[in-house]
Amino acid sequence: MPHSELSPTIRQILEMLPDPAAHATSAPMLPRECYTSPEFFEFERRVVFPKTWTCVGREEQIPKPGDFLAPTVGVEPLLVVRRPDGSVGAMSAVCQHRGQIIASQAGSTGRAFRCPLHYWTFDLDGNFMGAPYLASRDDVECLRRNARLPQVRLETWHGFLFVNLDEDAPPLAPSLAKVEPFWKNYEAADLVAVPPTPGDTPLPWNWKIHAENFTDSYHPEFVHRGTHDFAPSVHDDGGVVFTPMTQADNAIVRTVPLLQADGGMTSAGWGPEAAFPPIDTLSPEQRKRLTFVLIPPSMTLIFAPGAIAYQLITPIGAEATLASNDRVTAGGWLLPRSTYERNDFTERAATVREGAKKIWLQDIPVNLGVQAGKKSRFMPTGHYVPLETTLIQFNAWLLRAYRAALPAS
Ligand code: FES
Ligand SMILES: [Fe+2]
Repeated sequence: MPHSELSPTIRQILEMLPDPAAHATSAPMLPRECYTSPEFFEFERRVVFPKTWTCVGREEQIPKPGDFLAPTVGVEPLLVVRRPDGSVGAMSAVCQHRGQIIASQAGSTGRAFRCPLHYWTFDLDGNFMGAPYLASRDDVECLRRNARLPQVRLETWHGFLFVNLDEDAPPLAPSLAKVEPFWKNYEAADLVAVPPTPGDTPLPWNWKIHAENFTDSYHPEFVHRGTHDFAPSVHDDGGVVFTPMTQADNAIVRTVPLLQADGGMTSAGWGPEAAFPPIDTLSPEQRKRLTFVLIPPSMTLIFAPGAIAYQLITPIGAEATLASNDRVTAGGWLLPRSTYERNDFTERAATVREGAKKIWLQDIPVNLGVQAGKKSRFMPTGHYVPLETTLIQFNAWLLRAYRAALPAS
């Protein structure tokens, strides 16, 4: 979508965007229309998201050749498949005959994908294999050369599968380098993934409000009284610690202390008697903190003493967001095998969900409130305070992403 093809509404919003270079440490808030305008959401979906790295799941979800995920990134339906050589690849799910979507649910397909409309088949690399009633061998040969499912870039990061529709996008791994120190010692614990159950009820707010709520260290003291006091952003012995963010970074990271080592999620929220036992490969320092990581636009991670909790975010409308995590549905954890194989794991997982749900129920009204405020003519241009450093960083990320999505003018 070249700039000249953008609607007047979008161009008007984009022209209102502040220049990130002029606001390195205090990116002003976005115009409220960025959170409410269906047209702006279409711009994000068609122009911005296809140029970002999007997490679509984990390697363990597709263990055997032919196992596949079927995510939609932006407006593009994709297939992310385990290939015969054991590697994972991503490609378009749009049939190269007449464009039927080959699969829209994850599954297992054996050695080939078969389009449901006229039964054309494609191998696990996307190569055309065959079609019923083709006129000649020449037709088949021609299709073998020309009808491959378009390939999409994919990178694996600690078992997470990320795709990017932009062939020229910078590689993912360097953009997440600042998260690497937080992985230290976790993978030595023989982690098992418990993928989240995908959310199927849209949350009625913009995906950026969802992300901001996750990354905001200013609100827990007020919104999460009783459930988050054990992991305070403000504390006499030091509270939240932010991390610097450069233009090349694709992660927004903060850590907060726990009032006691080895705390974690309890049935009442964060507390000392964690339902998931502490991971014994972690350092004493890691067993005393929580680390919150936002990888926009699609993912969050929480590194805790007993588990890593993760969430996938799928924006589907200006005011509609699908999210799947332990706060909303179930799972979304990386845990030591020793925890996962405990006889009482099911009960412990239920306890974690019970506590996380209490936190989530406190977040729902404020997310609704922020979304409603964005529609008001009296919505302020906004003013961030120091405890909102992560929001300033997210804002700067958004401004860069919006500008990068546009051709140089
Ligand atoms: S559209 Fe797929 S086989 Fe015809
Ligand atoms: Fe919250």
